[in-house]
Amino acid sequence: MHVTFQLAPEIEAALRAAAAAAGLADAADFKPDVRTAEARHGDFQANGVLGYAKARKLNPRAVAEQLVAALPADLRADCDVTIAGPGFINFSLKPDVLLAWLRQFATAPALRTAAAAAHAGQTWVVDYSSPNTAKQMHVGHLRSAVIGEAICRLLEFTGAKVVRDNHLGDWGTQFGKLIYGYKRWADPAALAADAIEELERLYKLGHNATPDGSPELDVARAELVKLQQGDPENVALWQTFSDVSLAAFQKIYDRLGIRFDHNLGESFYNGHVERIYRELTETGLAQESEGALVVFHPEHPRFKTQPFIVRKADGASNYASTDLATAAYRAEHFKADGVVVVTDFRQADHFEQLYLTVRKWFAAKNYRLPELHHVTFGAVTGEDGKALKTRSGDVIRLKALLDEAEDRAFAIVTEKNPDLPENERREIARTVGIGAVQYADLSQNRSSNYVFSWDKMLALDGNTAPYLLYAVARIHSIFRKAGAAPGDAAAESAATAPETAAEISLARKLTKFPDAVRLAGESLRPHFLGLYLYELAGEYSSFNNADKVLVDEPAVRARRLLLCARTLLLLETGLGLLGLRTLTRM
Ligand code: ARG
Repeated sequence: MHVTFQLAPEIEAALRAAAAAAGLADAADFKPDVRTAEARHGDFQANGVLGYAKARKLNPRAVAEQLVAALPADLRADCDVTIAGPGFINFSLKPDVLLAWLRQFATAPALRTAAAAAHAGQTWVVDYSSPNTAKQMHVGHLRSAVIGEAICRLLEFTGAKVVRDNHLGDWGTQFGKLIYGYKRWADPAALAADAIEELERLYKLGHNATPDGSPELDVARAELVKLQQGDPENVALWQTFSDVSLAAFQKIYDRLGIRFDHNLGESFYNGHVERIYRELTETGLAQESEGALVVFHPEHPRFKTQPFIVRKADGASNYASTDLATAAYRAEHFKADGVVVVTDFRQADHFEQLYLTVRKWFAAKNYRLPELHHVTFGAVTGEDGKALKTRSGDVIRLKALLDEAEDRAFAIVTEKNPDLPENERREIARTVGIGAVQYADLSQNRSSNYVFSWDKMLALDGNTAPYLLYAVARIHSIFRKAGAAPGDAAAESAATAPETAAEISLARKLTKFPDAVRLAGESLRPHFLGLYLYELAGEYSSFNNADKVLVDEPAVRARRLLLCARTLLLLETGLGLLGLRTLTRM
């Protein structure tokens, strides 16, 4: 056995060497372009011959033949190589190589090594969820949390050290009105029962009592100024608002499997903004305009005239000032190699201006610049394409949405398994319901709007969480029937190489897991992994329909159980990377 299972790069290197060995013209310029092939074409396909031959007026098939003839013998021993169409070269791993892969990748840590990506060994800060305090999280907060957590897990699995940072919106003019309302109408009983609910009520009261131009508004503003100047009473109030908010958020995070390393909200960067004004002015990037400090980007079609306001005309900091300070802190304190901020697409302009500014500022100061990513996503809409609302037209609270997911899943589970004890049905419903919401979001390209449909996300077929979770539970039940533990090395040692078409096809799909995880991690697009898992579950189900697993013949049984065990490992690992919990029974 010669392949090391860095399969695509290995074939790529072999083809380059073959080009030189065969004495091709400009051999050094030949780019093999090796990709994962569609299953019917084998495992990998080299697409680069066509372009290379065309540019040199050569016959691509003849070039492909020359290359294949010059391939190293060890690669030929591991792969069946064929030329297809006008000059594609297809590589199919031989069954004993597939078996070797299955044996080598028997655990999540082994898979992790194979999936190591370009960012392995680096530190990445991921800023996600990041809601505003003193308010409930609503359906609009779902995507950042779900997508952000999946990205963290993907980056971690592919080798990065990840810092999870909840950049809370915990500073701003709204606190003047909230303190105004709080000091007049706070109801201790309501605060004890549901603090955020009460804070929302108090903010509304405060807001309604302080209309523009009113003397009451001046009072609210004065509360804000006192807070900003460190008045002990107002600071203590503000601290309470933050504490109760975080405690309420954590209840949601627990249900979604999220735990932050830091909650460095906007308030944290208050003391860091003076430096931003100074350095941006010093480097000539910022200028005064109508009392405000602004940055223009002359090279940009819009931002040459649309300013990035980094300090407001009244001298106060804003979202831009704190985000600039945040960028510096992440580079300096966390020594970040990469930064990912996950918000909806409506903040695209802000982040484009921010990153343009940071790049110029860091270059001017000779600071080390991390890779900067703004991960955006589309809106959550109902099936009518409109923003998702309750019947009465209010925003849907995230807590209510997750409750409903669990309730709906519970009804389905109860209908299917009325005899299971209630606590077990509840447990299953929790995993399926929450998983359905997470997966519905993660299974589609995040850039699209997300159409929220209970029926679709809870369906037992299609690219859904219930379908994948059911595949997992079904494999567990095979092992229960076999009286064996999945992944038992002694039992697996009896397995022979995959033989039937369904076995080979499933084995081939299994070997693609590291590529799918790496792709999802490097592109910061979890749906690539979702799609892979869905296809894997499909291959598994074809295999299950074609080949009986629990046959008498020991070698056949062992190799089919080996395929079951690896499918299970990959599905469980993959779903875990997307933030889902899995079940052994459903
Ligand atoms: N609090 C903001 C909001 O609710 C999101 C913050 C995103 N992170 C950041 N560094 N700006 O829209």
